[in-house]
Amino acid sequence: TASNLIDPQGRHLNYLRLAITDRCNFRCTYCMPEDGIDLKARDDIMRFQEMEHLLGLFLDLGVTKVRITGGEPFVRKGLPEFLIKINQYEKLESINLTTNAYFTEDAVQLFQKIKMDSINISLDSLNREVFYKITRRDDFEKVWSNIKKFLLTDLTVKLNMVVIKGINDNEIVDFAELAKNSKVEIRFIEQMPFNGGHFSNDILSAEEIILILQNAYPSMMEFFKMSSTARIFEIPGFKGRLGIIAGHSRTFCSTCSRLRLTPEGILKICLYDHGSVNLKDMLRSGRSDQEIKTAIKDAVSKRAKDGFESEQRTLQKIHFSKNKLSMAQIGG
Ligand code: GTP
Ligand code: 5AD
Ligand code: SF4
Repeated sequence: TASNLIDPQGRHLNYLRLAITDRCNFRCTYCMPEDGIDLKARDDIMRFQEMEHLLGLFLDLGVTKVRITGGEPFVRKGLPEFLIKINQYEKLESINLTTNAYFTEDAVQLFQKIKMDSINISLDSLNREVFYKITRRDDFEKVWSNIKKFLLTDLTVKLNMVVIKGINDNEIVDFAELAKNSKVEIRFIEQMPFNGGHFSNDILSAEEIILILQNAYPSMMEFFKMSSTARIFEIPGFKGRLGIIAGHSRTFCSTCSRLRLTPEGILKICLYDHGSVNLKDMLRSGRSDQEIKTAIKDAVSKRAKDGFESEQRTLQKIHFSKNKLSMAQIGG
């Protein structure tokens, strides 16, 4: 859809990823070290009221889709009330959320009542011990039971599996099988080097993942869908479908329509962007809506052509390794 936010490449930005917290109850090895990450002070994090205000400005500028991320969104108190509130925003066409499904038990009904488009759930293993090894939490049973509750509804569910060589790559076909009888999208994600410092460069690439799947399912066919991080594949006879996300190789930048707001209110026009403006600070210092909108447009007008260029710019600005950042701080 048309947006007033058009970057130098002509891409319309209509999708905002809003990270409402940097906290998480899990400790996934690819995301953060065992003792967690340096958390922001409470006062440095946007209040819900500030997020509601800023979201309103993004909607005025042409954003129509929001995805709530984190950290783990449900760790933050007040999320249900926030969802109910933004559900009333007329210009907001779709609400989406990414979660680890630990706290979602009571949210199923709420999600069915609001314009919730897709719930993306992180699940990296179907085996309790492997789940524990990856998340450092022995919560497979609870998470799986919560996922099954979603699958019984007609809500759109996507399962995110970060593929880790030697740890869960032997479960790729088991995961794909889940799409046989369920209208779920199983997404295999290339691991990205954001994890607070511990990272193995032994990444299974999107191409390698696709080969494994093509071997198991020779009739698998690619389905073309624009502006998505995932390449979508269908298998005849399957109710659901498969998605492959080349997060590390970044082959989807040319159609990327997303903006990000970090928990502290920093606007990022790319996952790899360092962020040049803090919208929460502008709000708190009494800057007008018009000034904030101008700041957003200004950032968009300087958007790099892809993640590689963004990353180069970031590395010039900050003189430390991006590997020290965690996905929980960036907001995925
Ligand atoms: P929808 O397309 O709305 O379903 O969302 P999504 O797939 O972008 O979101 P989700 O939160 O489920 O993230 C899935 C994976 O894609 C995660 O590993 C994200 O970090 C990654 N991802 C999301 N957006 C970007 C992006 O702009 N660039 C890169 N490189 N990876 C991204
Ligand atoms: N590489 C790839 N995906 C990651 N995620 C978190 N950290 C990484 C990483 N280093 C995924 C989670 C979640 C999504 C928002 O991001 O699995 O599903
Ligand atoms: Fe939490 Fe998601 Fe990071 Fe895992 S990947 S520790 S669930 S924020």
